Amino acid sequence: MWSLEHPSPSRGVKERLRLLYSREQITERVKMLAGTINQDYSGRQEIILIGILKGAFVFLADLIRHLTVPVIIDFIQLSSYGAYTQSSGQVMKLSDLHHPIREKDVIVVEDILDSGLTMRFLLEELQKQHPRSLKICALIDKRHRRLMPIEADYVGFHLEEGFVVGYGIDYNEKYRQLPDIYTVEFLSPQS
Ligand code: IMP
Ligand code: MG
Repeated sequence: MWSLEHPSPSRGVKERLRLLYSREQITERVKMLAGTINQDYSGRQEIILIGILKGAFVFLADLIRHLTVPVIIDFIQLSSYGAYTQSSGQVMKLSDLHHPIREKDVIVVEDILDSGLTMRFLLEELQKQHPRSLKICALIDKRHRRLMPIEADYVGFHLEEGFVVGYGIDYNEKYRQLPDIYTVEFLSPQS
């Protein structure tokens, strides 16, 4: 188990990480998702996978290596989180796509679908470019926390509660390099 000092903004607060999904469980789900996508898109010319940076980069990298349908990879960088564990509700586009998606089959690849604010912002942007189809693949779906009426088409794990890190997912830019996924417990200095 990892237990590390959290430098800011609340000095002295520690984080304790508890294993939630092992790398083996993640691999199994990623293969399962890729298998479903391969079936759904079999015979298509190519699909455009749009990874939302930064959180989805590890997931996308693993997912594509199990896809047999031809893919084009693109990234968009969005940010709605500040230094806290709640969405700020204000989504910013930090970098844009490089490939046109008009008349293309598009799958947005996201690490975590939470309130849905980030995804709603992105879907509205993408719809303006008239893709042929537009689907969502989320590694983790926190469905009970949704504020927007958005459903993922492909989901790796359903999570009821907790803030998670690892496998590309961060807390304040930390822990992305962990190969497994952990929940974070925030401990007060005396605990
Ligand atoms: P939403 O806009 O509330 O759906 O937030 C989605 C984004 O918030 C995800 O792409 C993540 O980057 C981030 N996020 C949501 N839950 C977590 C979490 O448990 N750990 C780390 N990031 C999270
Ligand atoms: Mg994200």
